Amino acid sequence: MNPLRSSVLSALLLPGVVVVGTRVGLPVLAMATLRLSSSSSSSFFAYQQQKVGLTAAQRPPSSFPSPSPPLVVCSIPDRHHLPSSPSSGEASSGRISLGFCTRQSLGFCTRQQSWNRKLAVVAAAASVVEVGGGGSSSTISREEVVREDDPTNNVPDTVFGKIGLQLHNRENHPLGILKNAIYSYFDETFPGVFHKVDNLLPIVSVKANFDDVLTPPDHVSRSYNDTYYVSADTVLRCHTSAHQAELLRQGLTHFLVTGDVYRRDAIDATHYPVFHQMEGLRLFTQQEWEAAGMDGTALAAQELKKTLEGLARHLFGDVQMRWVDTYFPFTDPSYELEIFFQGKWMEVLGCGVTQQQILCNNGCAGTTAWAFGLGLERLAMVLFDIPDIRLFWSNDSRFTSQFKSGQLGTKFKSFSKYPPCYKDISFWISEEFSENNLCEIVRGIAGDLVEEVVLIDEFTNPKKGKTSHCYRIAYRSMERSLTDEEINALQAEVRQQVESKLKITLR
Ligand code: PHE
Repeated sequence: MNPLRSSVLSALLLPGVVVVGTRVGLPVLAMATLRLSSSSSSSFFAYQQQKVGLTAAQRPPSSFPSPSPPLVVCSIPDRHHLPSSPSSGEASSGRISLGFCTRQSLGFCTRQQSWNRKLAVVAAAASVVEVGGGGSSSTISREEVVREDDPTNNVPDTVFGKIGLQLHNRENHPLGILKNAIYSYFDETFPGVFHKVDNLLPIVSVKANFDDVLTPPDHVSRSYNDTYYVSADTVLRCHTSAHQAELLRQGLTHFLVTGDVYRRDAIDATHYPVFHQMEGLRLFTQQEWEAAGMDGTALAAQELKKTLEGLARHLFGDVQMRWVDTYFPFTDPSYELEIFFQGKWMEVLGCGVTQQQILCNNGCAGTTAWAFGLGLERLAMVLFDIPDIRLFWSNDSRFTSQFKSGQLGTKFKSFSKYPPCYKDISFWISEEFSENNLCEIVRGIAGDLVEEVVLIDEFTNPKKGKTSHCYRIAYRSMERSLTDEEINALQAEVRQQVESKLKITLR
């Protein structure tokens, strides 16, 4: 059985596990799809009542990193003028410098070499990203984030190429429109109260991402298989909760933090290694809960539900909702809000009453708080009828021109009728084999031309004791037709890299 399916089933059967959702970040539109990784099958942070310890293959490569001071937080300037995706292979301008493949060098290539070079451009990404703003601008070089020779680093070029693009800060982009609609709700409901932050650097310390929000040392979200480590003590944030502690320490009592978050994951229409989350947190003082005649936790839980039900109605209209008990390391009690939308129950967000320890550790002893985290793509796909998560990264004007600031819920009109092309790859796996690693290789080669990677066959040869996997890779561009030649070159490169990097034996 597909490991994903079996993990979902075993989680459902576990006593004490109330519900197993998908990760908070992304939508559950493709339920028929056989998905690959554990983190995509169940909520990244939510499903850990199972208390899964990390296997050797999952563990970060060095011994578990000790807490270190957070990196200086800098802001990133708005970048609407930049191409959204270096992986589209388009020439870049402005502050992101380009990869190395020139027209001149292509002029002398055979067709095969030419394709290999184009693949290299897909993978090369930018070499420097400028971050900062407000007078404190600085740059992050590729070498600081992608360090192929460093075993504690697992960030590929394709992912580095997304840093700084800030789709959520583009006014006419579905993610920017959704972010602003949520801002409007909070501004109307709590005028002038919520502080908004949307430009924090996504490179954060392991301490901020995990320790500060009480993620247990053996929690699967810390695994090298699931999270991008820049170094042993620095990661690309895998959730916006990574900023809770620092903002509390800065004295903020009501805040919304939006940003790009990064997770190693499966490939299908609803999963992408970079997506966007919004975090919200509100503190309550003793005076407030005494005035309400309640204890602090009860007031926070009541206000949380009221506020988020209001948000769901603001976004989706008069929908049916339900609260589902769940588990997050950082909240207790913890809930997921689901709405009945387009004929099925859909998880909208994860939330709960903040653990006292987080408040005490960050200068807020004597208060209570609620916190929530929601995935913007998950909601935007449903609200705007966007069928494939790769579209958010598209620069094609047939996509970008369809959305206008302030117009929440404009229905996307599909322009891609280009057929997918399927290629299978079969191999004997080794003990270290991980599907996320396979997906990363495929994405590194094909970029956004890969639509889905699905395990279609699995068997064990009892005599040899070896297990074979067959994956079907769907290649499809949202924007143009792909040629046979192009796809064959991609597949040949996938076969070669899978064999050389994954310690498997091709069949
Ligand atoms: N950080 C959680 C996630 O990404 C969401 C969350 C945020 C849940 C805040 C509770 C409180 O899955």
